[in-house]
This record gives sequence, structure tokens and C-alpha cells, in this order.
Amino acid sequence: MTVATELGSATNTPARVAQDTVFVLDFGSQYSQLIARRVREAKVYCELVPGSIPAAEIAARAPRGLIFSGGPASVYEPGAPHPDPDVYNLDLPILGICYGMQLLAGDLGGAVEPAQRREYGHASLTVDDEAGIFDRLPHELSVWMSHGDVITRPPPGFRPIAHSLNSPCAAIAGPRGRFGIQFHPEVAHTPLGRDVLRNFLLNVCGCAGTWEPASFIESAVADVRRRVGDARVLCALSGGVDSAVAATLVHRAVGDQLACVFVDNGLLRRGEGDRVVEIMSRQRHIRLVHVDAAEQFLDALQGVTDPEEKRRRIGRTFIRVFEEQARALGQVPFLAQGTLYPDVIESTSYDTQHAQKIKTHHNVGGLPENLRFELVEPLRYLFKDEAREVGIALGLPEDLVWRQPFPGPGLAIRIVGDVTRERLETLRAADWVVIDEIKRSGLYRKVWQSFAILTPISSVGVMGDYRTYANVVAVRIVESDDGMTADWAKVPYDVLGTISRRIVNEVPGVNRVVYDISSKPPSTIEWE
Ligand code: XMP
Repeated sequence: MTVATELGSATNTPARVAQDTVFVLDFGSQYSQLIARRVREAKVYCELVPGSIPAAEIAARAPRGLIFSGGPASVYEPGAPHPDPDVYNLDLPILGICYGMQLLAGDLGGAVEPAQRREYGHASLTVDDEAGIFDRLPHELSVWMSHGDVITRPPPGFRPIAHSLNSPCAAIAGPRGRFGIQFHPEVAHTPLGRDVLRNFLLNVCGCAGTWEPASFIESAVADVRRRVGDARVLCALSGGVDSAVAATLVHRAVGDQLACVFVDNGLLRRGEGDRVVEIMSRQRHIRLVHVDAAEQFLDALQGVTDPEEKRRRIGRTFIRVFEEQARALGQVPFLAQGTLYPDVIESTSYDTQHAQKIKTHHNVGGLPENLRFELVEPLRYLFKDEAREVGIALGLPEDLVWRQPFPGPGLAIRIVGDVTRERLETLRAADWVVIDEIKRSGLYRKVWQSFAILTPISSVGVMGDYRTYANVVAVRIVESDDGMTADWAKVPYDVLGTISRRIVNEVPGVNRVVYDISSKPPSTIEWE
């Protein structure tokens, strides 16, 4: 049976802030997203756009400057990506990075040729002219290079301003604030790379460097108001930070026109469902329909052991329950989602366009297209840590804002084999100990994810004078930047020892705890 409860509401008012924008033109570098992050860290708002963006579109948005990313191609090859030639006629500063510098050189009449030797890794850069981007930086910089082409003649009006052993033109400067650098300032291996970027953004482009994620709140609120008018908006809360921040922002914009649906699938961690209701409804006064659908999900999962089948059934059940609630709310044209910038970049990136790579998204519950909502995605230009900052600025509590990533199918994919009410209780109790100890030891925000897995193994143990034959729980704690690759966390032995002792003592039916020391790849983070 599905139990739905609707709870009460009110509204708040925002503050006003302005912003400069820089565009990063993406020519296919694996670091394009990283460049965008670094620019934002310099407190300048930026967007990653396709390298082929029409000059008129850029002009219409009036950015302060452009950055050309690196890329895998050679500028002289047929089919290599180039910017719209009119981009060079816009009176805008440009910083070309690696392939981006070669584009600048090649397109403006210089010469680019294959290097005698590919330059890869650390290099020492000698600055010959402190103009603009090297302002107040040392004359010798340790930089990171990765290129097979070199500039043999800078374009007319440009001059070399730095060299390395293998690149006589390792950096160039030209008129109208145009610079090229052969090295990658965005990677951690170029220690002063951030200063080079800052110099370009602040000194050359004239950006104020005052942008903060929180300063985006007011314009996002205004955007939502403009888009939505006096129509109603629905938002599916997942229990995670993205949907909570998106809902809070939309609520700030349109107040009671927003109704949130929180489908509690019974597969959440201990206390997390109640905490969502407590924060969003009782503290924030957001209209919230809390659906206790645990039984429906458990029924759907009965006897299912295949991980993908679990996901499919959970997905289908979610849609059924959500549709039921949406229908009960009447005509709601808009759906708010907590989509973040990396998802947007992934689906519009150079890679996706050129290599036809199709990536699956894990957005809230994966709603079907025939629901015909218009999407409101107020966080679509924010990175995860920025969304967190916005959450804090909006007054959401730290425990929600800093919650570790949690998979949509929840604990069901952390119980290897059959998902039953009893096994869920066992896992939930063990998982709670892991989280409690990781928080106590100050590691919660330092690691990417920390959790327990209920394995299908029983092992022999001894408690007091009795022989036991009970469950084995695995503990998985990983470090990662984005979940794509991960390493097992080298958690101090005493913390692991306490976790193990507490689980065996506090969780009935468990007599052994093991620590997962596999990295991703070849393993995955989740066990299923
Ligand atoms: P894996 O196990 O693939 O996990 O290394 C990478 C990241 O994705 C999360 N994950 C999921 N998230 N639905 C989700 O919303 C899923 O089906 C799912 N599977 C894995 C996982 O927790 C980790 O952060």
C-alpha cells in the first residue's frame, strides 16, 4: 500500500549580484571541464561551449574573453576542428591552450608543424616577457606539456614570450589581449597554472573575480520565475543534495506553486527518509508529498538477484508511484530537476557530438518522456561543490548538503542476492555503524563514499561459548573525484577495527567483517 502525506509551506526573498562571463571553447581536450572548474575557482563565471559555436552567438552573450581548450587533433589536418573564423573579429581577449594556441597561430597566419620530438610531462618554462599572463610570476616555471606539434612561426603581430627546451614558442602574445600557451595551466602538475589563468582573467579580460556560486542564486531565482510564471512545478526529491538544492531554489522563486514528491522506496539509509521530510517540509515549509512506498518496492524485488533486473524493477516501480502522485496533483506543466553541469557537459560535449558516445544519466528516478513536463533545471551550470555552496547559502543544513553520493537503487544493490525486509534491516544497521565511525573519525567529507555491503556468504564464528553461523558484511570506503575511477581508502586500522567490532557486537546476524581493497577499475564502487 502507498501512504501519501501532504505537509505545509511559506516563501523567502533573494539578494542581487552581477557577473562577468568567460567562454571556454571545447575542442575535445580531456581537460576542458577542468579548465572551466579552474576559471570558476578564480571566481569568474564561465561556460564550456562547443568549439564550433557561431561568433554571433558569442557576441550576443557579450563575454569578457574566450579560452580555447586543447584537443587531440592537429590543426593542419583536414577535418580538424576550428572556431568560426568570425570569432577572431570579435574584439575579445583569447587564451589558447595547447591545441587552442596552435589554432590561434594557424588561423591567424603563423606556422604549426609536427615537433621533432613529442613533449610530454614536466617541462621547465623560461618566461621571456612578463606581459599579461605571466605578470608577477617567476622567470622559471614548472609546467606540464602534452603536445606533438609546435609553432615554428608566430602569426603576424604576435611574439614569443616564453620558451622551453623543445618549444621555442612555448607561449605567444599578440594584439587585443590574445595569448597562447603550449602547456596546460589547468592541471595540478602545473603548480602556478592557476596564477596564469587568473592573470588572463583578471588582468587581460578585466573580470572582477568576485563571482561565487551563491551569487548565482538571485539570477537563477529570477530565471525560474520568468520561465514558470504562475504555473505549478513538481519536483521529485531523492534524498540527495542535488534535488534538495534545486527544490529549495525553485521554492524561493515560486513558493507554494512548487510541490515536491518524495518517494520513500524503503531502500534508503537509516533515518535519511525522515531527515528529508524534517528539513524540506518542517524546516523549509515546502509542500511535500511523502510517499511511503517501501512495500511496493519490496514486492517488486521479491526473488530478484540479478543487479540489472533490480535496477529495472526499481525504476519501473518509481515511475508508477510517481505518476500516481503526479496525477493526483492535477495539471502541473513543469518538472524541476537537480541536473548538474557535468551531466550537461557530458550530453553536449565534443566527445558526445563527435564520437556518438551515449552516456546514461542517473537523474532522479529516470522519469519517462511521455510525462511531457517542461524541465526546470536551475543547477545545470553548477559543478557539484558549487551546488553544495548554493545549498549552504540557501540555508540547507550541512548534513544534507555534504551527504555522500548514494545510488538511486539504494541499498538494494548493496545486498548481494535476495532483498528482503530482514536483510535490509541487517544492512541498514551495519551501514549506520560505518557512517557513524567515518563521521567520528573526521573522514566523511574526505572520502567519496563509505558504506556496507551484505554479502551472500555465511561464515562460522564463536560468541561466548557458542558457535555461530552468520552473515559476512563487507565495508567499502573509496576515494574518488567523480566516481569514474576510484581507489580504496587507506583508512587507519583503528577506525576499521572499531567499525568491525561495533558491527559484530551491534548488528544481530553478523559475525564477520571484511574490508574491500579493490580499486576501480577493474572493480566498480558498488558490488552490484
Ligand atoms: P560504480 O559501481 O559503477 O559506481 O563504480 C559509480 C558511482 O555511481 C553510483 N551508482 C549509481 N547511481 N544509480 C545511481 O543513481 C545506479 O544504478 C548506480 N550504480 C552505481 C555509485 O554509487 C558510485 O557513486
